[in-house]
Amino acid sequence: PTRILTGITTSGTPHLGNYAGAIRPAVTASRAPGVESFYFLADYHSLIKAQDAARVQRSTLEIAATWLACGLEPDKVWFYRQSDIPETTELMWLLTCVAGKGILNRAHAYKAAVDKNRVEGEDDDAGVTAGLFMYPVLMAADILLFNADKVPVGRDQIQHIEMARDFGQRFNHLYGEPVGKEYFTLPEVVIEESVATLPGLDGRKMSKSYDNTIPLFAPRETLRKLIFSIVTDSRAPGEAKDADSSNVFQLYQAFATPAETAEMRAAFAGGIAWGDAKQALFEHIDAEIAPKREKYEALMAQPAAIEAVLRDGAQRLRERYATATMRTLREAVGLRDLS
Ligand code: TYM
Repeated sequence: PTRILTGITTSGTPHLGNYAGAIRPAVTASRAPGVESFYFLADYHSLIKAQDAARVQRSTLEIAATWLACGLEPDKVWFYRQSDIPETTELMWLLTCVAGKGILNRAHAYKAAVDKNRVEGEDDDAGVTAGLFMYPVLMAADILLFNADKVPVGRDQIQHIEMARDFGQRFNHLYGEPVGKEYFTLPEVVIEESVATLPGLDGRKMSKSYDNTIPLFAPRETLRKLIFSIVTDSRAPGEAKDADSSNVFQLYQAFATPAETAEMRAAFAGGIAWGDAKQALFEHIDAEIAPKREKYEALMAQPAAIEAVLRDGAQRLRERYATATMRTLREAVGLRDLS
């Protein structure tokens, strides 16, 4: 079967961008025949940004409940918490030793931190942890440990998948070629164009770090208020509006059918009032989310049940793949067999 894998960092409350960019396509993909799916909570990754233990735990619970509320079936897919698979960090070290430092220098998140320091007249690496720098290697370990074929993500993650390919290829070349083996499958990125970069309230990419998110399961009234607070230009009702440059339209098309989207595009050209466009957006999102919101609230009231699902998933996954794969890889590089 084709292996699909994706993760979400447990550093905050899931938002519409995570949902449209990752969760919704991943749940749909997991139902196709001939597919084996791996969906996980990236809590090791969260430590890079969130040094607050209670927040990481809370976020882990929220994101787990979100996946389940969105229809993920934990008996049909591998559903787990990253740190329950310690082989991940072990593999990360093996990959660290083949990863080019120059490649990591070019990672977007690291470069953004350096650029910011330069603007502020600080040393390049002021306040930058080695964790931030190594982020792509940890992510490569997530992907390569299970030999994922396809990784569905939003556009911001493309570079990380390319790096995972690079590290996997180097490992295959160094250790595999001499013995006629291919240790790692090189993953392909899967991007759904219409939702690859969902804008936030201010028009920039919806992101926890910009504080411009619409929480996926905000109460209905909060959702309405947030949608009405989306920044728009000052075109009056009756004035033609440009759909392609509008955040309201970008969000709308992520939740509407192609026919509805075409209608809305015409309404924009015809000068729909911003209030009416926002009301239509609110109704579409709420219609899709409301049943899931109810499930989410019920799940959040049963943290022990969620915990049990996660532990069970990780335990089975280690037994099925992770332990054996790590044994092979330790042998490949010349380390002792621990079993
Ligand atoms: P994270 O937690 O930042 O985001 C989770 C997923 O949501 C997507 N996403 C968006 N998609 C569209 N529009 C947006 N505004 C938007 N914001 C976020 C992200 O692209 C991502 O798919 N490093 C990853 C987590 C991770 C991972 C992995 C992913 C760890 N290991 C292995 C895939 C494979 C991250 O921080 O995503």
